[in-house]
Amino acid sequence: MSGAMREALIRPGAISANVEILRKISGTPHMLIVVKAGGYGHGAVTAARAALAGGADWLGTADIHEALELREAGISAPVLAWLFGPGEDLTGAYEAGIDLGVSSIAQLEQLLSVVSAGKPARIHVKIDSGLGRNGLDPRDWDDFFVRLALAQQANEARTIGIFTHLSGTSIAADASQGQVYDQAVALAAEHGVVPEIRHVASSIGTSDSPALAHDMVRVGAAAYGVPVTERYESVGLRPAMRLSAQVILVKRVAAGLGIGYGHTYRTENETNLALVPLGYADGIARHASSAGPVVIEGNRFSVSGRISMDQFSVDLGQATAKEGQWCVLWGDPRDGEPSATEWAQAAGTIAYEIVTRVGPRVPRVIAL
Ligand SMILES: Cc1ncc(COP(=O)(O)O)c(C=O)c1O
Repeated sequence: MSGAMREALIRPGAISANVEILRKISGTPHMLIVVKAGGYGHGAVTAARAALAGGADWLGTADIHEALELREAGISAPVLAWLFGPGEDLTGAYEAGIDLGVSSIAQLEQLLSVVSAGKPARIHVKIDSGLGRNGLDPRDWDDFFVRLALAQQANEARTIGIFTHLSGTSIAADASQGQVYDQAVALAAEHGVVPEIRHVASSIGTSDSPALAHDMVRVGAAAYGVPVTERYESVGLRPAMRLSAQVILVKRVAAGLGIGYGHTYRTENETNLALVPLGYADGIARHASSAGPVVIEGNRFSVSGRISMDQFSVDLGQATAKEGQWCVLWGDPRDGEPSATEWAQAAGTIAYEIVTRVGPRVPRVIAL
């Protein structure tokens, strides 16, 4: 414990072990682990190092500054970043050897404008195969590949990858996206644009659509031990985050007491009430008010009343807790702790949001 009253214990060993499992499942020559959004809340550099130790050979971020943070930490593995703004200066990324995902001719021109002689930009062409987000629409493929082929001939661009992202709507929907992707790759080849690495699947695809694995998978959630498909429930992934806080106050209160803003919870009997100093400012979903599960010294309870900005209450009934004891919100179910998925269910969201939102006020403590 760090001496602070809140902590997110991060287990790099779990990330490394998860990556080893995922490598066996994917069977691909390359594996990219996604460490955007501060490594899904686990710490980007911690997650990146753990992923590489587990056998990943690529890292992925959304923003360029996230990719540069990895370089600043001395990480030299290939890094792909796939989101940047129209006015953004791409010189830093280019000079640091960051691969960029490119979704339009305008983005390609933006990148080519910073290229100097003899050092082609490292490009991954992003195809919108049906997610309706970033990526090239099929109607723009032809013009794009014509322009990229010219840049390749001028030694200004190197096509490292062609990639797409799946919607995860169903295995069938993902398979049809895979077909659209294949058409893009075939058209690119007709223009002389042949990627070194084809990559399509993220966590869900890696688990459920092995035919879409190609040369590399890009995995986020599963690497952190968030089991996003049924198959992942039984392959031995371990959650890499345990979020807890000390019980900072315990008091005996009367029956009929309204608890928290709006009095959405009322004690039935005279009871013991514990106060836990985590709130929505720390990323605890307010939608899990009166629902989120917690464990205090092996006993399971749930949040009682509204989660407020910095704290929530737990009605212990006739059980007791001592001030200073630790209240675990989510961790490893094998240790009797609630899972991030249970919190997601309690809040009506997905476990990605639960772990990614843990705020900067919660110290990350790295497990040895
Ligand atoms: C392009 C891309 N690839 C891969 C991922 C990783 O997805 P997951 O965390 O579901 O594995 C993401 C996450 O949003 C993404 O945007």
